[in-house]
Amino acid sequence: MKAITVVPGDPESLQLDEVADPEPGEGEVLLEMIVAGICGTDHEILEGDIGYPPSGRDRLVLGHEALGRVLAAPPGSDFAPGDLVAPIVRRPDPVPCPNCAAGEWDMCRNGRFTEAGIRGLDGYAAEKLSLPHEFVVQVSSDLGHFGVLVEPASVVAKAWEHIIHLGSRGQWAPERVLVTGAGPIGLLATLFATRPGAEVHVFDRASDGPKPDLVRDLGAVYHQDGPNSTGEEYDVVVECTGDADLMAAVPGVTKPNGIVCFAGVTDEGRQVTVASDIARAMVLENRIVFGTVNANRRHYEEAARVLAQTDESWLRRMVNRRVSLDDWEEAYTRQPGDVKTVIEFPDAAA
Ligand code: BGC
Repeated sequence: MKAITVVPGDPESLQLDEVADPEPGEGEVLLEMIVAGICGTDHEILEGDIGYPPSGRDRLVLGHEALGRVLAAPPGSDFAPGDLVAPIVRRPDPVPCPNCAAGEWDMCRNGRFTEAGIRGLDGYAAEKLSLPHEFVVQVSSDLGHFGVLVEPASVVAKAWEHIIHLGSRGQWAPERVLVTGAGPIGLLATLFATRPGAEVHVFDRASDGPKPDLVRDLGAVYHQDGPNSTGEEYDVVVECTGDADLMAAVPGVTKPNGIVCFAGVTDEGRQVTVASDIARAMVLENRIVFGTVNANRRHYEEAARVLAQTDESWLRRMVNRRVSLDDWEEAYTRQPGDVKTVIEFPDAAA
């Protein structure tokens, strides 16, 4: 079967390979791939910055955002042939640490987890795959191909769960939320933020292309002129750009008890320096800055639920570049106006 593979660390190594078909072990589901999404992490791997292959191998099958269809399910699982599913990215560490033991692998404490298509485990940009049924999440047939967004949305679902948890240390009903960056994660963060009815503001540099309307169509306000241009303060900031200057600036636009969630990764080596007056205000007014990564099963299920309730035409404009597997190379070349690029597998039209 065909799979997109890479030698992590070698920026010239991406190729469409011929690899052996998966042979499902006990308790594993067999999937055919329908759509695989591409995100910033894939580009970091392609640039040779992060990632490592399964042990004893040079090449890694890429891809961690995916929608597949069940071909065969093990007895005792919740799945049946034909079901649409999203495979989960992370697998618990082998110790396991207390969090991984409790199914909270997104909070792994020893860093020995693996991640499909990223760290030590083959990914999902392959025609077929098999994996333990506990690492597969049902996607409603109404959501269809947009189920490819379940993985990035799971990361945002986790971020919101943690924001709510942290906010609940006092009386809390967030009225104003700022999202920085209107890429896929920023747009999904906006989708989650607008649901409880808060006033949501989104900052991004783009002046044209689909982003401003995607933001406005969620009922949020689009800004192109900096996070503190309005002079207003926010209960919550979800920082999705990974830009070191922005990360340093956003704690300064929070209200007392405000929460800043870092969901974007800075380039390695870039320093984020919080000014001393901001650090002082963080102490004197209980502000929190925290980071979040990955997601566990609960977050995938929440993501699948929220996306299934989202307007289909909005999802269609968000997944705005679909490339067939035959043209796979094009999919990894960024183009202006891209929001979410996906690769459609031969069966995608079915
Ligand atoms: C994925 C996460 C993963 C993270 C770090 C992100 O792109 O969505 O699941 O944990 O990369 O590898």
